[in-house]
Amino acid sequence: MTIGIIGLGAMGLGIAQVYAQAGQEVLATDADPAARDSAGARLAQSLAGRVAKGAMTEAEREAILGRLRVVAQVEDLAPADLVIEAVVERLAVKQAVFAALEPLLKPDAILATNTSSLSVAAIAAGLARPERLVGLHFFNPAPAMRLVELIPHPGTAPDALARARSLTEAAGKTVIQCADRPGFIVNRCARPYYGEALALLEEGRAAGEIDAAMAAAGYPIGPFGLIDLIGADINLAATESLATAMANHPRYHVFPALRAQVARGDLGRKSGRGFVFPAPPAAMPTD
Ligand code: NAI
Repeated sequence: MTIGIIGLGAMGLGIAQVYAQAGQEVLATDADPAARDSAGARLAQSLAGRVAKGAMTEAEREAILGRLRVVAQVEDLAPADLVIEAVVERLAVKQAVFAALEPLLKPDAILATNTSSLSVAAIAAGLARPERLVGLHFFNPAPAMRLVELIPHPGTAPDALARARSLTEAAGKTVIQCADRPGFIVNRCARPYYGEALALLEEGRAAGEIDAAMAAAGYPIGPFGLIDLIGADINLAATESLATAMANHPRYHVFPALRAQVARGDLGRKSGRGFVFPAPPAAMPTD
């Protein structure tokens, strides 16, 4: 099988690693030449961490690197059996990506979106064959996080859903099917968690203190370390999307502290500064 990836940011590269580790050939591209040029080195670095921990051999690392082929344009993804987009969280951009991709692909290829908060049905709406689009929502960092939410929209074909599930389970993931409802399962449950942390911050507690308390209470990572890992921009987009979809219910309130963080460009790891980053988070998942 050949997996196509569009978008080589934090998620796209991690998803590429997941399938390449499972033995699939991966073709991947990004609109930004810098993201394409750095992808091989970023993957090599991520895999080096696993070799250092004894989780894989140097020969396995080389083989995985050999299975990632970074290509210059979307047209080069034509041989793929499953194409997953992980571009910016904007409906019009995702729709445009699939509109360009759809005519190039084999008739039985599956299209998947890694959206965290948009409607899968809305992304499928402009397609000539919407029945082959599903949501495949990976978590960050994709190689380390076991869960993938699988989201059919009302028109998804059972065969496309079954094949997306089996390819992803074969890559070692726990696949949970979700309804195409705002936030699916995890992001919906997580909103009030971030919200209370942001409310405490606005009441004057330091982000590092809140994180330290939550980590000591047994959470694998504190709320602000998690926002820094995910990206405050991505977190804000998901919160706004849920707030709109849930008619501005107070559980999904968009806190000014989060908006201000994004306006300052303090997005977390990807910008080099966040709520607690570059201080090491109290605890975090490793791959
Ligand atoms: P990112 O900002 O790290 O990467 C996005 C990449 O897409 C960039 O390299 C950008 O150059 C590229 N891109 C943008 N427009 C493009 C286009 N039209 N064609 C090709 N490439 C394009 O973002 P990240 O964090 O990887 O998120 C990507 C998607 O995954 C979003 O939909 C986000 O909601 C979702 N997601 C993010 C998670 C996170 O923790 N960051 C977790 C789960 C899902």
